[in-house]
Amino acid sequence: MPKIIRILLLNGCNINLLGTREPEIYGAETLAQIEERLTQTAAVSGAQLECFQSNSEGDLIDRIQQARGGIDCIIINPAAFTHTSIGIRDAIAGVGIPAIEVHLSNIYAREEFRHHSMIAPVCRGQIAGFGSQGYDLALQAALRLAGQS
Ligand code: DQA
Repeated sequence: MPKIIRILLLNGCNINLLGTREPEIYGAETLAQIEERLTQTAAVSGAQLECFQSNSEGDLIDRIQQARGGIDCIIINPAAFTHTSIGIRDAIAGVGIPAIEVHLSNIYAREEFRHHSMIAPVCRGQIAGFGSQGYDLALQAALRLAGQS
């Protein structure tokens, strides 16, 4: 029987406000809509998507640690933690699960403090600037990565 691929979708602080939060930057789609669409896409490919959002850095680190042994690939939008969190970076490096970083906005075309990602060096790649479609692109990449492992 083929192994079921398990992908973890993590979203950091304020991503729960998608849909109403600065829609001119982050778009009109809600996190629930994104999660539902990706869950369906994953299922069609025979994969299982687990979704988790938190405004707390520690909760995200706990979830990354729990992923060890069960999750094949992590898709993460660390949100503002992108620019500050050595803890999330170390957690991703520590569990050794391939990770893909996503940003709705093009962080390199915005304020200078958004230009640096603490997380990017421990990820396989980064997708930024394509709005919520970035999550769909990340899922395609994750399915490919997980299929290779
Ligand atoms: C974001 C970009 C971050 O700089 C910001 O703090 C966010 C969202 C994005 O998806 O574009 O909260 O990660």
